[in-house]
Amino acid sequence: VSKVTVDGSDQSFICDSEDTLLRGALRAGLQPPYECNSGGCGTCKLQVMEGQTENLYPDAPGLSERDIKKGRILSCQHRCISDNLVVKTRLEDSDPMLVTPTRFKGKLVEKINIAHDLVEFVFESETNINYLAGQFFMLDIPDVGERAYSNSSVLDDGSLLKFVIKRMPGGKGSNHLFSAAEVGNDFRIDGPYGHSYLREDIDRDIVLIAGGSGLSPMLSILRRLNSGSEFSGNIHFFYGAKALVELNENYIHEAASNLGDRFSFMAGLSGTEDEVAGWAGECGFIHEVVDRNFENYPDFEYYMCGPPPMTAATQKHVMLDKKVPMEQIHFDRFY
Ligand SMILES: Cc1cc2nc3c(=O)[nH]c(=O)nc-3n(C[C@H](O)[C@H](O)[C@H](O)COP(=O)(O)OP(=O)(O)OC[C@H]3O[C@@H](n4cnc5c(N)ncnc54)[C@H](O)[C@@H]3O)c2cc1C
Ligand code: FES
Repeated sequence: VSKVTVDGSDQSFICDSEDTLLRGALRAGLQPPYECNSGGCGTCKLQVMEGQTENLYPDAPGLSERDIKKGRILSCQHRCISDNLVVKTRLEDSDPMLVTPTRFKGKLVEKINIAHDLVEFVFESETNINYLAGQFFMLDIPDVGERAYSNSSVLDDGSLLKFVIKRMPGGKGSNHLFSAAEVGNDFRIDGPYGHSYLREDIDRDIVLIAGGSGLSPMLSILRRLNSGSEFSGNIHFFYGAKALVELNENYIHEAASNLGDRFSFMAGLSGTEDEVAGWAGECGFIHEVVDRNFENYPDFEYYMCGPPPMTAATQKHVMLDKKVPMEQIHFDRFY
């Protein structure tokens, strides 16, 4: 184990040999800035002042040439080598809602086909795991490595943890899960992570905007609102897919079955003419669909999730074009 001291503060934490600097800090209850925990976003950049680290993902896209020249590293992709390390990083105020991440074993117990190349994977964990609706976990995929997956389950599911996963063309992790992983296989899981969780104490009506596998955390949020939550406002869900075969509206409505008139759903398809053949609903990117069908944006609380281009376009639309304050927007980008 190594001791990591945060330069210019009285904070330090212990990092074990398996943990990255980021995970060590989070397990100690500290809140350094981070978003994806996957090397993609660059939010977790920090400077090592003393000591040595090992880089687990040298090609990580989250670090620019300029960052590398300035000696910055991604704390989510570096482990300690030295016994003592001094790092320079910002620490955010602790969020009392956040649950400290832990490692545990999960057995794959079911694969539920939702739509084309979209499956809900159900794992049974050794013990009941605590987390908030909409957070994500790191799934260790044999012979591939870890990938981040947002949970689609809720605490009421007990020891069952669910993740909606999309098969990515050529993707190592997702293809392993779709093709090689079998019911009964054990996986190492670590979590929960992420800040884009459902804020149940905020009274504003809710807008959910997701694309593709961004459905996963939205199902978690919907399932929580559907039973067990004291939130009594309305929920509007806008969901974007490319092709008609990627859409399963019934699955989404099932997750909201108790919400009645408080729930509204609209899908938009953005694929080619062939891909959307037979679809009578909205077409275009999901932020365009929202734009055509929604108003009074600043009155709502937003949760958005999906691939980076989708979340970037939607965030720009909601924040810049429609002037929604940043504090009302919570999003996860799927790097
Ligand atoms: C916060 C978050 C939540 C996510 N939630 C979901 C979800 O609910 N459902 C879903 O389908 N997808 C989700 N993703 C995307 C998911 O993590 C994978 O990127 C996706 O499944 C493609 O992985 P792949 O292995 O199939 O593709 P690949 O192209 O093989 O791998 C892509 C991703 O793997 C990571 N990676 C690649 N090489 C390395 C390496 N050497 N070391 C470390 N990491 C590496 C990178 O993050 C990269 O973006 C989420 C991503 C993030 C960041
Ligand atoms: S949190 Fe480390 S790169 Fe995104």
